[in-house]
Amino acid sequence: MNTRILTGALALSLVANVWLAASFHRPVDVAHAEITPAGEELAVYMSHAQRHAHKLGLSIQAKNKPLAEFYVTELGETFELIQRKFPQYEGFQIAALSKAMLDPAKPALSKSLAAGDFATAAVAYDKYLAACNNCHVAVKHEFVKVIAPTGNPFNQSFATK
Ligand code: HEC
Repeated sequence: MNTRILTGALALSLVANVWLAASFHRPVDVAHAEITPAGEELAVYMSHAQRHAHKLGLSIQAKNKPLAEFYVTELGETFELIQRKFPQYEGFQIAALSKAMLDPAKPALSKSLAAGDFATAAVAYDKYLAACNNCHVAVKHEFVKVIAPTGNPFNQSFATK
């Protein structure tokens, strides 16, 4: 093949590759992303939090200390993950908001459970759920309202014995 044609073809393919790379590897606009660059959706983590918050409520109602403490830990871990994975979501500062709004509601829960004081734990639990809902209002998701459980829909016993 003629060297000039070869050079021309190479240059063309280089331009095409740069163009392709630019269009397919466009940096994700994190501030407005529905999902993280890794393709994860915040709602998935929220549904984990919802299930654990639900089971935490049932554990407190059943005065089951080890189970309730387990769910407080699980919730803490889920929100640690959320704070790491979702600094921003749909333009909202998810990590900072959850640190400011939800984290302060946790110590009252942990302390009352450690003391086996279920009456105080029930009040702390309501405040914890209120913090979830306050954040939903702050991020324009006020239509997501979590409430204390009224029955056990799980194939799981919350009884201590
Ligand atoms: C940082 C503020 C913030 C906090 C704190 C927060 N949420 Fe959310 N939550 C959101 C956002 C934002 C969405 C919408 C996510 C999406 O669009 O993918 C959401 C969605 C949800 C959903 C809908 C997803 C589904 O599976 O139905 C539930 C349920 C939920 N949150 C439960 C909770 C619970 C329970 C807590 C507290 C333990 C909580 N959230 C705390 C911001 C928050």
